[in-house]
Amino acid sequence: MRDEPSVPEQERAHRDVVSFVRRGERLTQGRQNAWDRLSSFYVIDPPRGERDTLPAEGVRLDPAEEFGRRAPLVVEVGSGTGDNIVAAALAHPERDHLGVEVYLPGLAQTLSRAERSGSPQNLRMMPLDAQRALPAMLPEGSIDELWVYFADPWPKQRHHKRRLINPPFLDAVLPLLAEGAAFRLATDWAQYAHHMRQQLDQRPELALMHPDGPAPEGTSSDPIPPNMPSTGWAPRFEGRVKTGFESKGRAAGRLIWDLAYTRVPRPPAPDRASSPEAQQEA
Ligand SMILES: C[S@@+](CC[C@H](N)C(=O)[O-])C[C@H]1O[C@@H](n2cnc3c(N)ncnc32)[C@H](O)[C@@H]1O
Repeated sequence: MRDEPSVPEQERAHRDVVSFVRRGERLTQGRQNAWDRLSSFYVIDPPRGERDTLPAEGVRLDPAEEFGRRAPLVVEVGSGTGDNIVAAALAHPERDHLGVEVYLPGLAQTLSRAERSGSPQNLRMMPLDAQRALPAMLPEGSIDELWVYFADPWPKQRHHKRRLINPPFLDAVLPLLAEGAAFRLATDWAQYAHHMRQQLDQRPELALMHPDGPAPEGTSSDPIPPNMPSTGWAPRFEGRVKTGFESKGRAAGRLIWDLAYTRVPRPPAPDRASSPEAQQEA
């Protein structure tokens, strides 16, 4: 019989659960050319740690230094082939945009898309695991909008721990949100939408932006959990462009579930003078 794993082993196993699979990483010649031409400007490529999706210990990212100015920062996790982050960078020159994506062909495609559409200067891409890299690299309160669109649904029960919207990711990224920041999500999987509500509604750092917002209308080819909340859903965010994943979901008869939360103000730091310990000491 195998012994119970030791605590460090358990910690390691937990850390090793990732929300992505890496396959088909080879770049076609066209994508390789785009990478060679454009990555020195667009790609933040820090020294790596124990894996090539992790930054080395102590690597930090100062958005003001990276973009050469201080501007509201929009971050998209799992930006795929860049439909949303490139469109947003073009539509909002007054904001800075950071896409985080581990899928290198998607990143290379994002770079060509950026070049074809006018080479926005307010865009950077990072080929790292967002869950581990963002909290290690970015200062607290530095993100003004966070987007997670059509995250991998990991539908099998035994894979639910790999879903991005789970406590380890939320613990990692919610402290990075500025007060009043928006956290926008969309999925075409009813079960994942339900899971997101269970994970997100209970977080004290977040409040629903549309508490009375109705659920999407229509019939769904994937079963809707019986206790799915009937309100709290967001209208489609006007800045969210349709990606291949959304089109595939619609073509398969699934509904699109949009969510938007806002980062509530942090509670004030406890006043030491009025704490019970301080009063006892006095
Ligand atoms: C289903 S795709 C959706 C892509 C895009 N948002 C869209 O709508 O087209 C999910 C993407 O998230 C990326 N991803 C998953 N976990 C990630 C993580 N921890 N850090 C960075 N990217 C991640 C995957 O590589 C994949 O490209």
